Amino acid sequence: MRAVVLVGGFGTRLRPLTNSIPKPMLPVGQLPIIERLVMNLARGGVTEVTLALGFKPEPFVEAFPSGECAGVALRYAVEPEPLDTAGAIRFAADSAGIDDTFIVVNGDVITDLDVSALVAFHREHGAEATLHLIGVPDPSAFGVVALDADGRVERFVEKPAPGTAPSNLINAGTYVLEPSVLQRIPTGQKVSIERATFPAVVADGGLFAMATDDYWLDTGRPELYLQANVDMVAGRRRHDHCDAVHELASVAADAVLVDSLVGPGAELGAGATLVRSVLLSGAVVGAGAQVTDSVVMGRIGEGADVRDSVVGADGVVAPNEHVHGERRPDPDAG
Ligand code: GTP
Repeated sequence: MRAVVLVGGFGTRLRPLTNSIPKPMLPVGQLPIIERLVMNLARGGVTEVTLALGFKPEPFVEAFPSGECAGVALRYAVEPEPLDTAGAIRFAADSAGIDDTFIVVNGDVITDLDVSALVAFHREHGAEATLHLIGVPDPSAFGVVALDADGRVERFVEKPAPGTAPSNLINAGTYVLEPSVLQRIPTGQKVSIERATFPAVVADGGLFAMATDDYWLDTGRPELYLQANVDMVAGRRRHDHCDAVHELASVAADAVLVDSLVGPGAELGAGATLVRSVLLSGAVVGAGAQVTDSVVMGRIGEGADVRDSVVGADGVVAPNEHVHGERRPDPDAG
């Protein structure tokens, strides 16, 4: 089974982290999101993945120089310009010569979904396209579906106004598609699969959906990216585990870590405390500093107190400074 993984977005909601690293290359549990995602696809029977790339393709090619990731063969399809989700799927599938049932995944999805079960559901229902669904308390920020008793999608509503959603089941970003879906997508232009292609498949009665209660997170927002990491180290995943401290990290003997991760090359100074936080490669936290509910790539001075914040590669917190609810550098400044 072949898959297309969409990794060409700008990742604006994760700025400033994505100023230096594209979102799917950011680590979850010490490995890039894309590697975690491909590992799960491999468990479900996927043997070849085409990465639909646009913005910053180089880090992907450099990270997997052998053209292989988690035992799966990788292909790269680099768009000349961003084509949006459906345009990117068409471009990548054409470049890989896909002509059979295939899988599509958004490159920021972290899930324990058994993809082979989604494929089996798709085949049993004779679907043209099948979505994976997850139930959430507030679906207004997502694509929401209304289903009939057979699992056929009756309506697909992208980001409904609060209180108007037809169900609490949201598009969880993994699809099984027949190649006929590709013929619905015009080439060389921006087309959204959620707004244009799926509604057309619904109109023909060919869109089905399977809801599961598997672990699932869309890592697109900082608090969810942080949660994905904390869940990994806290052992909340079915298959995946990781070490809290990478073997190439430097952590002082008296530093304190609670539900936190320290990545390769990161430094945590003497007496510093890390609670529900992630230090990424390049982060330096000075002695006695306190970091809580934050993601750090930059430098935090001695004795500083950082909470609910995102510090990018160029971000600096001065010694003894208190920083709450900030992004550094501020992605909206200048
Ligand atoms: P934000 O800018 O924070 O919204 O993040 P994003 O750019 O990743 O957008 P979004 O999360 O809506 O995109 C869903 C998935 O589609 C992500 O995995 C993106 O990488 C991918 N994606 C979005 N637009 C494009 C595109 O034009 N081309 C390709 N190849 N992928 C895209």
